[in-house]
Amino acid sequence: MPRSSMHLNLFVLGRGHHEAAWRHPLATRRPMTDLAYYRDLARTAERGLLDSLFLADILTLGIGEGMESNAVGGLEPITLLSALAGATTHLGLIGTASTTYMEPFNLARQFASLDHISGGRAGWNIVTSWAPGAERQFGREAQPSHADRYERAEEFVALACALWDSWADDAILDDPASGRFADARRIRAPNHAGPHYRVAGPLNLPRPPQGRPVLVQAGSSDTGRRFAARHAEAVFTAHLEKATALEFHRDLKALAHAEGRDPDGVIILPGLSAIIGSTEAEAKRIERELGELSDPEIGRARLSGRFGGHDFSHLPLDRPLSVEDFPAPETVQAARSRTQVITGLVARERPTLRGLLARLAGARGHYCMAGTPEGVADMMENWFRAGAADGFNLMPPILPAMLERFIDGVVPILQRRGLFRTEYAGPMLRDQYGLARPPRQEPGRIAAE
Ligand SMILES: Cc1cc2nc3c(=O)[nH]c(=O)nc-3n(C[C@H](O)[C@H](O)[C@H](O)COP(=O)(O)O)c2cc1C
Repeated sequence: MPRSSMHLNLFVLGRGHHEAAWRHPLATRRPMTDLAYYRDLARTAERGLLDSLFLADILTLGIGEGMESNAVGGLEPITLLSALAGATTHLGLIGTASTTYMEPFNLARQFASLDHISGGRAGWNIVTSWAPGAERQFGREAQPSHADRYERAEEFVALACALWDSWADDAILDDPASGRFADARRIRAPNHAGPHYRVAGPLNLPRPPQGRPVLVQAGSSDTGRRFAARHAEAVFTAHLEKATALEFHRDLKALAHAEGRDPDGVIILPGLSAIIGSTEAEAKRIERELGELSDPEIGRARLSGRFGGHDFSHLPLDRPLSVEDFPAPETVQAARSRTQVITGLVARERPTLRGLLARLAGARGHYCMAGTPEGVADMMENWFRAGAADGFNLMPPILPAMLERFIDGVVPILQRRGLFRTEYAGPMLRDQYGLARPPRQEPGRIAAE
């Protein structure tokens, strides 16, 4: 059944998602470590009744281009989200944490704590960490392969869920008269011993208010889709055109159904980066200014990172590209689905490298546009009604300006058209996303074993 109202997540990154945002006069000048900056963004998002705010995490300094040429150095997501919990009341708080480089016990504890602190607003973006270089922060020789990372992620997620389910909801008696604080029979340890992890448990804090944080996923390769179909309740995905978003939406819902899940319980949110002006001409002017502030050599370094460090230095900027200029996506061990997005664009449009890098500078392979609030709302309605999206992952190209223009300009139009809520559905992130609280599985048997 088509849903009547869309879901909107705000993806906060640096001073905005455009590669050159930090140099634009509309961008904040606040340090990337300033809590007040993020607090203001979160409050703006909540004023617009957005479902959630999301913080990514890469474990190295930026994506390929290094620290000289972007506003890098943001705060650790779970720590920052905990602070934002105190500054907001309804906004969902989603953070990335890596199954390749974190320990399940620590992660389960941190997200359970965030869910308690925020009154049930936590979401975990499950990533396997594609970016080359993360391994060096953890004393490892090399990044595990794509297949190994996803295999480990399966066991990790099953174990994290078992840890969150350690305590029954009625485990705490807190009865001073009888002298019993908890009913030990209602707290069960997973006692997990699998190929990658050995964790006794139980988790040392009660079940989160949402039962488990909302599970989010953002890898769209074939392996990534199957993983999302099994576990994800919300999915971030990158598409440069409606046709591929439609195919992805159809495919993932079918995969979720084949896994025995309700397809409506998987909310698909393609990225949208909108330059918004009060007139079309103003929006196009800002787009031009951002283009002029961009450096193709920074784009080239980023492109190399996406393809796992592949050397593109020999490619001239101004001859049309062909897919033979790129490694085949199925051989890429880094951000596989994004490399499919990029080679798909090259096959369709044969841009020059300069043209391709300009397209990717906007939001790294997510859909970009420049227009009026009306034009942005039209695009969103079109994708939503066509079944290409259950909502959007909003990626403002310049922060805070383009977020404010979206909240004040686009949200009221969506509301007038009956496409977006006019009040929050309840106190928890599961309420906004319309997701049921997962029943507790008695620990003892883990699916990935
Ligand atoms: C909106 C969005 C946000 C993402 N955030 C992160 C992140 O914070 N950290 C990370 O390592 N990867 C992140 N990714 C990358 C994915 O998790 C995934 O690793 C990547 O798309 C490659 O997966 P695939 O090979 O299955 O396509 C993000 C992807 C998308 C679309």
